[in-house]
Amino acid sequence: ALVVRRQMQSSGKWAKAEAILRELEDKCGAPTAKLRQVADAMTVEMHAGLASEGGSKLKMLISYVDNLPTGDETGLFYALDLGGTNFRVMRVQLGGKEGVIKQESEEVSIPPHLMVGSSHELFDFIATALAKFVATEGEDFHLPAGKQRELGFTFSFPVRQLSLASGTLIKWTKGFLIEDAVGEDVVEELTKAMERVNLDMRVAALVNDTVGTLAGGKYSNPDVIAAVILGTGSNAAYIERAHAIPKWQGLLPKTGEMVINMEWGNFRSSHLPLTEYDISLDAESLNPGEQIFEKLVSGMYLGEIVRRVLCRMVEEASFFGDTIPPKLKIPFILRTPDMSAMHHDSSSDLKVVGSKLKDILEVPNSSLKMRKMIVELCDIVTSRGARLAAAGILGILKKIGRDTLKEGDNQKSVIALDGGLFEHYTEFRNCMSSTLKELLGEVAEYIVIELANDGSGIGAALLAASHSQYIEVQES
Ligand code: GLC
Repeated sequence: ALVVRRQMQSSGKWAKAEAILRELEDKCGAPTAKLRQVADAMTVEMHAGLASEGGSKLKMLISYVDNLPTGDETGLFYALDLGGTNFRVMRVQLGGKEGVIKQESEEVSIPPHLMVGSSHELFDFIATALAKFVATEGEDFHLPAGKQRELGFTFSFPVRQLSLASGTLIKWTKGFLIEDAVGEDVVEELTKAMERVNLDMRVAALVNDTVGTLAGGKYSNPDVIAAVILGTGSNAAYIERAHAIPKWQGLLPKTGEMVINMEWGNFRSSHLPLTEYDISLDAESLNPGEQIFEKLVSGMYLGEIVRRVLCRMVEEASFFGDTIPPKLKIPFILRTPDMSAMHHDSSSDLKVVGSKLKDILEVPNSSLKMRKMIVELCDIVTSRGARLAAAGILGILKKIGRDTLKEGDNQKSVIALDGGLFEHYTEFRNCMSSTLKELLGEVAEYIVIELANDGSGIGAALLAASHSQYIEVQES
């Protein structure tokens, strides 16, 4: 009788766990029709954000980049990239038509306490690392005598630009929260820190990573019309007609175009498939009520959503037996790269899943059944994110009229993609591409997704270069 009861308990437990998964799948569902609604809502919000300041959750920030690199840029330029868990410093020697002659870069991880400390400390740390890097500049790089070193600063947070080379921080996103920097001009902060470490360098361009990626992407492929980041955070930038930006008060740029940083991470709509897990994740985050789209789509959060579902499976369905693994209670302990490794486990006994459970959650033994359910859980969460990202891209294509075929026009539209999530999470990437095909039908043939690996660094350096030239032309 005891054996029978145990069996019944165990099948009841699986049934409950199974029910939790099915409910999740149902709530995360993003069928084609729903994605079309999301894309339409995105287009509507884009219009609203361009119409007036504060007109939408989508800030549609003016980048002051009205002129993308031409390929004529020459000289030595530096780039600094701040926005994820690492920051990168880079130098490139641009050779005009010869392209990038030489480039060197270094990645430095940001000590977590600096992400939530003071502005002064963060910028000092960055300036110090940059100064060290500049000190290693070799003979292959040439700076004309008397010329100051110039820098393209990629700062991947929402910034209200005042010009190409200045702008104030609107708010922090991702894991950063440094209150005294909000509202400040980040170029001024960086410049002061550089002065403190005796680094003689001028910030020539301040760009978002999406804008840098767009500039870098267009440099290598003129058909690039937009850039999307799918990494720790998620965002997009695209080339808009200046006439279509009612809130733009300045002179119309000569090119008639302006790059817009959408800050699509902050998009939200009643059409988004939100679950109880998303709602609690948001409520307990550093920025409640903000960046809702980002919290469904980006690398910082996917693993955390999975952890939250697992918690419920453990609590309500004794998923890992009678004890609750204490580690499972730690927010963000399950990182998206680990989730990706489990999701891609192709071994018949899912041993990667088994070892991740052991190493991260200290669950010593897991059955094949458990492991299979975990893979399925990863799949549900990832598919929703990837499908929503595809809907976002469709929203942009609609806004600029590239979602339909036009008589006699078979122009390709290339979207430069960057970010660790897109680069390393194959299931995510594949699901996003197939969803885009599903949404675009015959137009899909003309839409190309191109991996622009670390394009934002080169892009920022190129923009620094073109801005520098602009000054020379003015002065002469
Ligand atoms: C966050 C930032 C945004 C950035 C994106 C990708 O959404 O707010 O500026 O582009 O992350 O790094």
